[in-house]
Amino acid sequence: MAKVKINNKTISVPVGVRFGEIHHDVEKAGIEFGCTDGQCGVCICTVKKGHECLSEVSEQEEETLWRIGEYEENRRLACQLVVVKEGCEIELETD
Ligand code: FES
Repeated sequence: MAKVKINNKTISVPVGVRFGEIHHDVEKAGIEFGCTDGQCGVCICTVKKGHECLSEVSEQEEETLWRIGEYEENRRLACQLVVVKEGCEIELETD
């Protein structure tokens, strides 16, 4: 498990599971989801801490980020995030 702080609420997230698959838990911490599949852009967030613990930007995510004008450093689609390492501190923020 990894601790993920989202807008000052902390939740535990299993390593290796895409956030889109556990969106009910992540939503409780304040991130809104739409498609949960990297296409709508509703779940846009900023990674404040723990980049090295998160999966790389996928092709689908990159395409959507471009389309919605959010292809910038630290901007990610929360539904596409996967924690890839144990023991990291991750912090996300929504707009
Ligand atoms: S919920 Fe649609 S892109 Fe993340």
